[in-house]
Amino acid sequence: MKPLSGKSALVTGAAKRIGRAIALALAEQGANVAITYRNSAPEAEQTVRDLAARGGKAFALRCDLEDPQAIEATVAKVVEGLGGLDILVNNAGMFESIALEDISVEHWDRIFATNTRAPFLVARAALPHLRASQGRIVNIGSLGGLHPWPTHGHYCTSKAALHMLSETMAKAWAPEVSVNCVAPGMIVQGEIEEAYEHFARKTPMQRNGTAEDVAAGVLFFATAPTFITGQLLTVDGGLGLS
Ligand SMILES: NC(=O)c1ccc[n+]([C@@H]2O[C@H](COP(=O)([O-])OP(=O)(O)OC[C@H]3O[C@@H](n4cnc5c(N)ncnc54)[C@H](OP(=O)(O)O)[C@@H]3O)[C@@H](O)[C@H]2O)c1
Repeated sequence: MKPLSGKSALVTGAAKRIGRAIALALAEQGANVAITYRNSAPEAEQTVRDLAARGGKAFALRCDLEDPQAIEATVAKVVEGLGGLDILVNNAGMFESIALEDISVEHWDRIFATNTRAPFLVARAALPHLRASQGRIVNIGSLGGLHPWPTHGHYCTSKAALHMLSETMAKAWAPEVSVNCVAPGMIVQGEIEEAYEHFARKTPMQRNGTAEDVAAGVLFFATAPTFITGQLLTVDGGLGLS
């Protein structure tokens, strides 16, 4: 028996990169996994094949997380397809670089719709099912939600809000549901490594993170005692300490 055998998980934005690694890590431990994607249909299909190769049930649904109705419909389909829900990972996120004074209302609203409102709406839709299963939520925050990055003001603010939302959910939905947050630092996955070397040099662990490092943090909360709730785990090689 693997630790997540018989459990059902939903990971948002998991066609590729960090979300894909999280989905694969959950499937590796025996979970049946549904993923969502928006534009990356071919990558989502490949991830579903790779999930199914781990032996569990797997499927992907297209969902625009800026659309509240699409979120409701997608969560309902996930619950129907998996026969319930034990673990929700709110991974999908949006990142962009803009000088603080150049952030428009549209920029601000889009980033908050994806990074802050969507995790709330997905969790709210999933709540009755998570309550029924004594389930768990893991939100993917960011080191940027803890440290002010001057050219990412709306991103940092949206992730700081997500950190607080995680604590609020943990208190509001206990004792049935545990809620935690993983905050990645500099994660490099397929980009040109040299462009990020300066981050590796100033990171105490002397390297940038991988998607698998973040997935390990999520797996911890997915399998830990549910008494561990409302916590924020940075996965940053110590970068936030410097
Ligand atoms: N990479 C890092 O160094 C880092 C650092 C700190 C925090 N994080 C956080 O970790 C998470 C994953 O990071 P990542 O770099 O792997 O993310 P990413 O590639 O930028 O985005 C992950 C996925 O989110 C989906 N997505 C974005 N906006 C969406 C929307 N409105 N509706 C539906 N799907 C949407 C996209 O799906 P499609 O491709 O299908 O459109 C995308 O593939 C994010 O929450 C990110 O903020 C990452």
